[in-house]
Amino acid sequence: MKIRSSTFLVTGGSSGLGLATVQRLCAEGGNVINADLGAPDAGTPPEVVYIKTSVTDPEQVQAAVDLAFTKFGGLHGVVNCAGIGNVVKTVSKKKFGALEAARQIIEVNLMGTYNVISIASTPMAKQEPNADGERGVFINTASVAAYDGKVGQAPYSASKGGVASMTLPLAREMAQYGFRVMAIAPGAFETPMVARLPSKASEELVETIPFPHRMGRPPEFAQLVQQIIENTYLNGEVIRLDAAIRMT
Ligand SMILES: NC(=O)c1ccc[n+]([C@@H]2O[C@H](COP(=O)([O-])OP(=O)(O)OC[C@H]3O[C@@H](n4cnc5c(N)ncnc54)[C@H](O)[C@@H]3O)[C@@H](O)[C@H]2O)c1
Repeated sequence: MKIRSSTFLVTGGSSGLGLATVQRLCAEGGNVINADLGAPDAGTPPEVVYIKTSVTDPEQVQAAVDLAFTKFGGLHGVVNCAGIGNVVKTVSKKKFGALEAARQIIEVNLMGTYNVISIASTPMAKQEPNADGERGVFINTASVAAYDGKVGQAPYSASKGGVASMTLPLAREMAQYGFRVMAIAPGAFETPMVARLPSKASEELVETIPFPHRMGRPPEFAQLVQQIIENTYLNGEVIRLDAAIRMT
């Protein structure tokens, strides 16, 4: 799929990986809608249309999808970057505390992703396909924590494991409409989410990254998003983007 003149909905586009994606898609000539709970970053290109959205709220997601159709006449790609990454101790001092915290992480990261795909794909399926028979592409953000999560990441890993494992069944189901479904499993990236870690924890994380021996840069994530959009033969796969990190 060509990015130029196509329309993309990016969730979580106000910060980190989503912000880099918004910037890249806009620079490549795409129409971009940023659906995020938080206000857009100052570095957001002025052409990007922002709509305050919680990915867990079906009405708000519907409004974001409708905006793509009313403003740009269609929707060709969805990049799900909205997410939260709190640490949760399963053995909790607070009664039912771990359960509530886990529910919130799974609600945003997993159910939020599924919610956006489900609501966006319905009107997208009615669009005219392009010359390749393609109507749209969905790119979800998993994590290497789907495979090797650290202590305190059980709910986060479960949420990202869900994002990773729904990639293939979604790609299979949605093939009949000319949709592709892919996921990226990033390693450790320099974003506000990771900046919130204590400095000791982030130094230890970098220690486990073989090469390049540094955190990933958000534009490197956006570069892979672009490749997935443009390379029609990529479908049904989770790509690790992680400099060979295996978290310990
Ligand atoms: N940074 C990393 O190292 C890393 C690694 C693996 C996976 N990820 C995943 O990448 C995604 C982006 O992370 P990031 O590092 O850019 O984080 P970030 O905190 O910089 O950005 C996340 C964005 O999501 C938005 N958001 C949160 N809850 C939302 C909701 N309910 N509805 C709409 N928007 C919401 C936030 O407002 C924020 O703008 C997340 O899913 C995260 O789990 C990040």
